[in-house]
Amino acid sequence: MNIAIARPFLGPEEEEAAVRAIRSGWVSQGPLVREFEERFARYVGAKHAVATTSCTTALHAALAVSGIGSGDEVIVPSLSFIATANAVVHCGARPAFVEIDPGTCNMDPEKIEGSITKRTKAVMPVHQMGLPADLDRIKEIVDKHGLILIEDAACAIGSAYKGTRIGGHGNIACFSFHPRKIITTGEGGMVTTDDADVAARLRRFRHHGMSVSDMERHQAKKVIIEEYPEIGYNYRMTDIQAAVGIEQLRKLDAILEKRRQIASYYDHELSGISCIRVPKIPETVFHNYQSYWIEILSSSPLSRNALMEGLLDKGIATRRGIMAIHRERCYSDVETSLPVTERISDSTVLLPLYPTLTADEAMYVVNQLWEFLK
Ligand SMILES: Cc1ncc(COP(=O)(O)O)c(C=O)c1O
Repeated sequence: MNIAIARPFLGPEEEEAAVRAIRSGWVSQGPLVREFEERFARYVGAKHAVATTSCTTALHAALAVSGIGSGDEVIVPSLSFIATANAVVHCGARPAFVEIDPGTCNMDPEKIEGSITKRTKAVMPVHQMGLPADLDRIKEIVDKHGLILIEDAACAIGSAYKGTRIGGHGNIACFSFHPRKIITTGEGGMVTTDDADVAARLRRFRHHGMSVSDMERHQAKKVIIEEYPEIGYNYRMTDIQAAVGIEQLRKLDAILEKRRQIASYYDHELSGISCIRVPKIPETVFHNYQSYWIEILSSSPLSRNALMEGLLDKGIATRRGIMAIHRERCYSDVETSLPVTERISDSTVLLPLYPTLTADEAMYVVNQLWEFLK
């Protein structure tokens, strides 16, 4: 057996769509980017979607057009991929790390108010591994203190909170199309919002701050001399990526179904192992299972890392649980105590889960876990 941790679900449909985009002669910021944005917005239930080159650039753009800058603080969980905090730093602001709820691995809303200072401008919850954070409670706190809410939804396409898909709750939300995510465009990102003004500013920000889009200029019947009222970046998605993204969106519901089937198999087969904890999903959410984690409890005969080594020897790739950003050297100036985050980061393992994982492969993963941990 040789079981990868993740595999993108790409086929001839994406290949043909990419070829069509190349042959069309319009390979960046053209009609396919616009179509992908429209389809994405419709899928999540947002009024606007703006495509970018990654979720990191989506987060940077979202924070910047929300006015986050030097001297500001943004409350984020430390248990996240480092890009969450880096995006805040890219704006000249400072991430203030907040503790998580060990049950969901998401930001603990009850810890937010303790981290609010005069400098706090925004709260950025992460829907970690695709599991929606407690948006209602977070929104209540954000509104009470007059803050901005930006969702790091890198992993959360297709997930829903209280019956509404992530991206459809009226806030700014940022998604990733990296190959380890639910759908992929190779690299890529998307910002969704219901605010037309925010969407317009995002479109300029990703296009060097230019006053007109490529499509507007191309379709104009008279000459347009563009202007640059503010500094922007090149965060433009290509039409080749968008063509792939449109095909991936068509497959999304089937991808989600397969992921949820495998997760349910893992839940059922692994819950009998007494020295691990499997995820418990709140009834208020629909989970896309971008990742499936188990926690290795102190009663385990093997340490987390020894288990990962053992599984690798048996041909099963795993990954450590989500990192604790505040412990990385580049954040060593941040003084904070986050014991739950550190425990979860050190004791969790991500298991292989993707639509092409066969029933035999999933059974092999389960059997090996029982062998090592019984
Ligand atoms: C929570 C979170 N935020 C942001 C990112 C960055 O996404 P991208 O690789 O598209 O920049 C990731 C990627 O793994 C992530 O997991």
